[in-house]
Amino acid sequence: MTTATRVALVTGAARGIGAATVLALADADWAVLAVDAVAEDPALPYSMSTPADLAAVVDEANGRAGSADRVRPYVADVRDLAALEAAVAEAETRWGGLDAAVAAAGVIAGGVPLWQMRTEQERAVLDVDLGGVIALARAAVPALLRRPEPRAGRFLAVASAAATRGMPMLAVYCAAKAGVTGLIRALAVELASTGVTANAVSPGSTDTPILAESARLYGRPDAAVFAGQQPMERLLDPAEVAAVLAFLAGPASSGMTGAVVPVDGGLAL
Ligand SMILES: NC(=O)c1ccc[n+]([C@@H]2O[C@H](COP(=O)([O-])OP(=O)(O)OC[C@H]3O[C@@H](n4cnc5c(N)ncnc54)[C@H](O)[C@@H]3O)[C@@H](O)[C@H]2O)c1
Repeated sequence: MTTATRVALVTGAARGIGAATVLALADADWAVLAVDAVAEDPALPYSMSTPADLAAVVDEANGRAGSADRVRPYVADVRDLAALEAAVAEAETRWGGLDAAVAAAGVIAGGVPLWQMRTEQERAVLDVDLGGVIALARAAVPALLRRPEPRAGRFLAVASAAATRGMPMLAVYCAAKAGVTGLIRALAVELASTGVTANAVSPGSTDTPILAESARLYGRPDAAVFAGQQPMERLLDPAEVAAVLAFLAGPASSGMTGAVVPVDGGLAL
């Protein structure tokens, strides 16, 4: 591992958009700490990733990179600030610093009007989807700032088209994602001229387990129903979202900060 290699930490790394981001970054020669809780959430009725899912992503990324430890797995819950601080410390110790942190971990719940939503599900959505992004920023931004000037640190979050669209039966999810976009804008201004930037992507309907759970919440047989809502008339592949995150992670995005980039097949139009 050369010191010139850029180093990233990605949460939600065991499947879906997070996993695709790990692969995209590894393909672009990044070292990546692939972080996921890999544990069921008792508040939520659908399955989270497993340790085997995380191991499979790490193996695939390392296989494609032709290296045994370009990507390393790390188990942490994004609601646990101390665990994320330990993850950041692991990346710095192993690879000499941190250049990008990508907050992709997320959950969904709803399926009922706001006033009927169970409190533990409301807490899970707010604590993971917004609290987890805040916790990663608190843990990772100091590390991004520890890099010597001139810096090119990147804090990135996965928001959603739900940040700007009023989606019925998903009010808390919409609130959390709107919170993420507000956070990114303010953080970008706080980071000012440090060389560290903060940006987000807002995916549309992307073919992952969270979308399958969204279909179930709406009483639909599967996620294919969401394809027709996007002008492109198809679901997005997680790799299409990851490609934009990988660009934002790199030096070429230096002119962007506080941006929320739609990667949504036109869903927000
Ligand atoms: N798939 C879509 O259509 C879509 C659209 C817009 C936004 N998003 C967002 O994209 C992000 C990734 O979602 P996805 O579609 O890949 O879903 P996914 O369910 O496939 O992946 C989410 C990952 O996050 C992990 N995770 C959940 N809670 C965690 C916690 N507390 N700590 C650490 N890891 C945790 C899960 O184990 C899983 O590996 C989420 O923030 C989601 O809200 C997805």
